[in-house]
Amino acid sequence: MGKLDGKVALVTGASRGIGRAIAVLLAKEGAKVALNYHNDVTGAQSVADEIASFGGTAMLSQSDVSVSEEARAMVKKVVENWGRIDVLVNNAGITRDKSMRKLTDEDWVTVINTNLNSVYWCTSAAMPVMIEQKFGRIINLSSYVGQAGNFGQANYAASKGGIIAFTKTAAIELAKFNITVNALAPGFTLTDMLSKVSEVVQDQIKSKIPMGRFGLPEEMAKAVLFLAADADYITGQQINVNGGVFM
Ligand SMILES: NC(=O)c1ccc[n+]([C@@H]2O[C@H](COP(=O)([O-])OP(=O)(O)OC[C@H]3O[C@@H](n4cnc5c(N)ncnc54)[C@H](OP(=O)(O)O)[C@@H]3O)[C@@H](O)[C@H]2O)c1
Repeated sequence: MGKLDGKVALVTGASRGIGRAIAVLLAKEGAKVALNYHNDVTGAQSVADEIASFGGTAMLSQSDVSVSEEARAMVKKVVENWGRIDVLVNNAGITRDKSMRKLTDEDWVTVINTNLNSVYWCTSAAMPVMIEQKFGRIINLSSYVGQAGNFGQANYAASKGGIIAFTKTAAIELAKFNITVNALAPGFTLTDMLSKVSEVVQDQIKSKIPMGRFGLPEEMAKAVLFLAADADYITGQQINVNGGVFM
């Protein structure tokens, strides 16, 4: 018996990295999982294949979550297909790292739309269904950078800090409907996002992490599963999974 038997989950940005690990773990615990991706259909299909290999259920869900209409249509389709939505993991995210002296308006807007506005689009689309069900678990991927700031990441840090503030407000508004809203704040995690950073900078970062290593996507997924399945009285919180890099 899985911890999420009978539940329906939607994971944005599930084609690789942290989203992939979350989708696989939720499916292992019995949830039917909608795998959102933007461009990487091959990656998303390989996640669906992995889920099918252990008898889990998944569907592909192509959508650019930075666009309100697309994000809302995606949520609607999940509910049309499976009749409900219990767990929403707002995970999709991008970086466009530049110091503010070089950052363009486009860099700013694209990151805010993809990382922060998408969280609002998907949450507000899923909310009415969750309210009717009197059950919902919303987990938003923030970052330690949203708590501490980071050189070259003004756009990213603002989006991730915004997620924390949004999470608290949504938690207050939705608590009476048995909907919890929490944020996960990963530290530096071994995914494509981190591999964009040069090796020299990666070594500098690692030297500042008390645990002396980067996180693994599977370690983030375990915390998401906890929030989705075992954290009935936890809402409005940020769970830091960061090897001690920010306390
Ligand atoms: N890695 C880290 O060190 C780290 C640390 C803290 C927080 N985080 C956060 O954790 C989350 C996952 O990060 P990651 O490292 O796993 O990233 P990643 O490996 O770069 O994967 C990003 C995922 O987001 C999807 N995506 C990007 N733009 C999208 C859009 N407009 N619409 C729909 N999907 C979109 C991508 O889909 P396609 O492949 O189809 O493009 C991909 O599945 C992000 O929110 C990130 O900010 C990561």
